[in-house]
Amino acid sequence: MLLLHYYLPQKLIKDNQKMCGIVGYLGKQNAAGILLEGLKRLEYRGYDSSGLAVFEDGNLIVTRRVGRVKELVAAVKKAPSQSSLGICHTRWATHGVVTEQNAHPQLSSDGKITLVHNGVIENYNTIQKFLISKGYTFSSETDTEVLCNLIAYHYAKEKEPKEGSRFAQSVRKAILHVEGTYGLAVLCADCPNEMVGARHGSPLILGVGREEILLASDVAALVSRTPEVVYLNDGEVVQIVGTDFTISTLDSEDIKPIINTVDWDISEGELGDFDHFMLKEIFEQPEALENAMRGRFSLDQSTAKFGGLNLTPQDLRQVDRILLCACGTAWHACLTIEFLIEKYARIPVEVEYASEFRYRNAPLDKNTLVMVVSQSGETIDTLAALQESKRKGYTTLAITNTVGSTIARESDGGIYQHAGPEIGVASTKAFTSQLMIGAMLALFLGRLRDMSFNDGSELVTGLKKIPDLVREITQHCAQIKSIAKKYTKKQDFLFLGRLSMFPIALEGALKLKEISYIHAEGYPAAEMKHGPIALVSEECPSVFFATEPDTLAKVVSNMQEVKARKGQIIVVRSANCPLPEGLADDEVIIPECHQAATPILASIPVQLLSYYIAVERGCDVDKPRNLAKSVTVE
Ligand code: F6R
Repeated sequence: MLLLHYYLPQKLIKDNQKMCGIVGYLGKQNAAGILLEGLKRLEYRGYDSSGLAVFEDGNLIVTRRVGRVKELVAAVKKAPSQSSLGICHTRWATHGVVTEQNAHPQLSSDGKITLVHNGVIENYNTIQKFLISKGYTFSSETDTEVLCNLIAYHYAKEKEPKEGSRFAQSVRKAILHVEGTYGLAVLCADCPNEMVGARHGSPLILGVGREEILLASDVAALVSRTPEVVYLNDGEVVQIVGTDFTISTLDSEDIKPIINTVDWDISEGELGDFDHFMLKEIFEQPEALENAMRGRFSLDQSTAKFGGLNLTPQDLRQVDRILLCACGTAWHACLTIEFLIEKYARIPVEVEYASEFRYRNAPLDKNTLVMVVSQSGETIDTLAALQESKRKGYTTLAITNTVGSTIARESDGGIYQHAGPEIGVASTKAFTSQLMIGAMLALFLGRLRDMSFNDGSELVTGLKKIPDLVREITQHCAQIKSIAKKYTKKQDFLFLGRLSMFPIALEGALKLKEISYIHAEGYPAAEMKHGPIALVSEECPSVFFATEPDTLAKVVSNMQEVKARKGQIIVVRSANCPLPEGLADDEVIIPECHQAATPILASIPVQLLSYYIAVERGCDVDKPRNLAKSVTVE
């Protein structure tokens, strides 16, 4: 009997933290080509190594390479396979060295089982000791190899059952002993026509095609084969035999699958004429903003309407506090949404980092509404914050871009962004679409309370103009590119803005640092005097936001303080905010618009500035070092 202790000292964790993309295929076509095509679409989830396993003449053949998926593609081309069954993986590690041994698929030491894994096996150390005592050997530093050998151990012990499959049963038995998270696709050397998948805490989606079944961690890898998908839930195991599949619980209780049809235009995931997805997505913002608004205004009521909130106007009137939770760029969106809801709906809002909130045990009262914001809908900290809020009985809503994502499914209600797939690791269109939804939500909540019909109507009109104004700004990209060229060699930047521009300053700094590796900090402009001003010099330019006539004089005096210390100034200013002659070294003028939407317009120049600086520095804009798009580990 396997005795497991569910405690693992942190220092023993070597290589078990990762965010990955997985794809599995079983059908009538050549698996390798389909798998590698799918893997390329998942590369944004991780890109330090990748691997593929196929079933060839009764053997599991594993190929792994360090580096980008193209290295794997080249290796597979040299030894083409005829197999119509296979699994593959692209990996992003935060611990342990990146080596071929640590890449997936992992193979059990008896050669019987191979698997790809997204997640973390927390009690791998205890299981590994047990398996070593049973004669299993290990060639990698991964927790995944431990799980692979554990399945092989159960497979070796398991008798052929009267019903069902010995292979699927051994996967079930193994994962019953596992603490942690996993999305898995598993193959067995004795089962040329079978693949098993399982999920707990990491996404796994089944694609149901014509005479083929696929498994993947993201619909992006499936949609070129089929729009029909089943989102697996935690604790579910899928057994695929030929072109049939069955879904069951860990206790082998059958589950009736719900097949969803995804509405995804495959060309949205292609680069087209653009050099990078980030640039493409910056230019897609007008459509993304239009999609966020489409069908969501009620002109005769001067308000917004959302179909999926699952709350009555009465429920919403009782909300006396809103807590917004998210990570990274989505957290910056929350800071803007806080500003908008407090200003237009007069409801107190707090913003929390999801990773902090889940452990803080913050007191909330029963009329608090918890909202999480997540582009991917899979960020583990945001999901955990959502689950913690639900556990405590709070009503939860989600703003997410990913239909069918775990966060979308687990929240009580929500709003889809409909921004289209965001592939570039640095978020752009998803961010501005979150700002748009925040403004619409502020309108909607405001109109349920004190906002007048006229103010509502003005806001609706103002928001509808935004896509065209964004288009206008992107047409000035050549000017922003030439500004970027002047600052390419700088190593430090400050981003400074007041009120609703403070989150945009934070976001501008994040964009610049994540794709160009330049140190950048965002601050409320007036806070500069309390410390950051020490950084100001000829070598540290400041990006200022001057978008509100009401606070313009204050921002101008902050700019003068920078100028007096020989700091260069780039300003993003509204057309109605003139500056003293010669104060700014460079300026980008954005059109006047409704105040609620200025954060959207002000975001565009800084996205473009960061993009062009990174390109000038020769950085890999879409796959910045050390980052992955969907952070599905803590
Ligand atoms: C930065 C960026 C990240 C994400 C963060 C949350 O450009 O994209 O900071 O915003 O990892 O991701 P989601 O929104 O998918 O939960």
